[in-house]
Amino acid sequence: MTADASAITFENVNYSAEDIHILKSITGSVPEGKITTLVGPSGAGKTTLFKLCNGLQSPDSGNIFVKGKQIDHYEPVELRRSVGIALQKATMISGSVRENLELPLKLQESELAVDRAKELLNMVGLDDTFLQKKTKDLSGGQRQKLSIARTLVNRPDILLLDEITSSLDSVSRQDIEELIIKINNQNGTTILWITHNLQQALSIGDYTWVMMDGEVVETGESSFLRNPQNDRVKQFVRGEIE
Ligand SMILES: Nc1ncnc2c1ncn2[C@@H]1O[C@H](COP(=O)(O)OP(=O)(O)O)[C@@H](O)[C@H]1O
Ligand SMILES: [Mg+2]
Repeated sequence: MTADASAITFENVNYSAEDIHILKSITGSVPEGKITTLVGPSGAGKTTLFKLCNGLQSPDSGNIFVKGKQIDHYEPVELRRSVGIALQKATMISGSVRENLELPLKLQESELAVDRAKELLNMVGLDDTFLQKKTKDLSGGQRQKLSIARTLVNRPDILLLDEITSSLDSVSRQDIEELIIKINNQNGTTILWITHNLQQALSIGDYTWVMMDGEVVETGESSFLRNPQNDRVKQFVRGEIE
């Protein structure tokens, strides 16, 4: 097997907050253009790892490289353009879909052309009529699609998804899964996806990382989840560790 190019590389990354050692010597590479799923019990440090990847927090020691460049060499705007993030709770401003879609560019004092707005909506499976709709009238699945469309405004090379299907019904969940696979296929976008759903991690992921207590304890092609080597990971996939 040849080594894939790396979208994000972690070298001995440590991070503490309030004297708690949250991330412990994280080392590993997220391969470019692939879908990597990230699973592990609540409190393992998954979300914290994301915050380091888009510059919300900085490591206490170690290095993070985004597309080969050290993360603290990025301008904040440049990093936000390269690394998009979507969260379980898709936060919206009150107002229209269009106003929400425009937000990332408004922050850069730029504007979003109507055609581009429609293209983005269509990409996530929402037709043109959604442009004028109020976000308060959207379903959970539609809000999540809008949230994804909004992260695509900047054409990120890397998308970080944090439990984005956790509060959706199974039909909407499947819809979003297909959408992310499409974005990965069509744009070659690197996906790093935190999920609680092991079946999802297995079926969607090319690769999977299991995190526990601030450490990456097992990684590989996602199929290893069927037969993990690490004893704690075995317990975790059997549902014995929440
Ligand atoms: N700012 C903070 N101050 C103190 N503890 C924090 C802070 N942020 C996260 N933690 C703790 O770090 C651990 C990892 O949290 P998190 O990254 O949210 O885990 P996960 O996403 O895997 O559930 C948890 O124990 C959490 O309580
Ligand atoms: Mg989390």
